[in-house]
Amino acid sequence: MAQVTLRKVIKKYDEVLAVRGVDLDIADKEFIVLVGPSGCGKSTTLRMIAGLEEISGGDIVIGGDVVNDVPPKDRDIAMVFQNYALYPHMNVYENMSFGLKLKKTPRDEIDRRVKQAAQILDITELLDRKPKQLSGGQRQRVAMGRAIVRDPKVFLFDEPLSNLDAKLRVQMRTEIKKVHQKVRTTTVYVTHDQVEAMTLADRVVVMNAGLIEQVGSPNDLYHSPTTKFVAGFIGSPAMNFIPCHLEQAAGALRLRLTDSLSMPVPASRTARYTAFVGRPNLMLGLRPEHIMETRPHIEPDQHDFNMTIEVVEPMGMETLVYFTVNGAEICGRVNPNAGAAAGQSMKLRADLSNMHLIDDTTGKVL
Ligand SMILES: Nc1ncnc2c1ncn2[C@@H]1O[C@H](COP(=O)(O)OP(=O)(O)OP(=O)(O)O)[C@@H](O)[C@H]1O
Ligand SMILES: [Mg+2]
Repeated sequence: MAQVTLRKVIKKYDEVLAVRGVDLDIADKEFIVLVGPSGCGKSTTLRMIAGLEEISGGDIVIGGDVVNDVPPKDRDIAMVFQNYALYPHMNVYENMSFGLKLKKTPRDEIDRRVKQAAQILDITELLDRKPKQLSGGQRQRVAMGRAIVRDPKVFLFDEPLSNLDAKLRVQMRTEIKKVHQKVRTTTVYVTHDQVEAMTLADRVVVMNAGLIEQVGSPNDLYHSPTTKFVAGFIGSPAMNFIPCHLEQAAGALRLRLTDSLSMPVPASRTARYTAFVGRPNLMLGLRPEHIMETRPHIEPDQHDFNMTIEVVEPMGMETLVYFTVNGAEICGRVNPNAGAAAGQSMKLRADLSNMHLIDDTTGKVL
């Protein structure tokens, strides 16, 4: 069990600046997920924590000790990769115990740890099998078992589920969460899948181009993104961004989307937004679930408008509708029975109590 701290950590590969100064405090027992697009520096950051990459600047602290110059084997961490090659000639028990044997751990201690890990992972009945007699998900569990038996200070995972099919990924995601709830080892988990990040993390770290964009709980990031990048990266279907202006009309602040479409800004936001009247390059950020079919009862800050629907996608429990506003393709989520039809006009409702105003020049949420 340990805290992990990154202080101004930098990684340079020749002229490529892969990680450009990352500061992060990870609490003991915390489950942290690093998420971001391909090439943003997630694996590099993880590998620097593991000691598999030298750092070009800054400090890495594990359990109170600066480990910059400590070799990987002495950092007391266990890593699970996407390619978690098991030894094909060894059975599950031998695969899980191999590392402990190398460390000359007493045989009864090995036996106790392997059986306990097998129980946590629900693979007790597979201990005699060889890897080729296991399904993909079972092999993944064995790879996790190998990490658990070492009882390390920190678990590091790099896209451990990306070789599995969609259904198994979801299942194993739940398994990993259950395991963490049992063993509580500090965990840093890398994925480019924002759903995986949201579902697993105590806190999510969104990375972009070698820097941290935002750190927060899944709900924080979802409801209060601080940048357009985070707003657009977290959530599926993604948040809509509609070019807009703020105007003062008859003493009230209005959000103008097109010549014929404008809506009053929620009263709770007027003080905050007044300074941006007339500012160019503003965007309204609104999630698809905040654009719905019209309903008999209307709440404050909700506004109805008519749109010609271009595409309709039935999802079962909801239907996605697509239309264009001010050149932007917009997605809304409507009731499957709301009668949405491609090419037809539909009365929709925007819930501006959940709006975001974005400065598209700086990429900041205002
Ligand atoms: N050994 C290396 N030599 C030179 N450049 C590297 C090396 N390893 C990584 N990079 C570069 O560093 C940047 C970050 O790479 P990294 O592997 O950390 O990305 P990532 O966020 O894990 O991406 P992915 O989601 O594709 O795995 C990329 O631009 C990559 O090309
Ligand atoms: Mg990677």
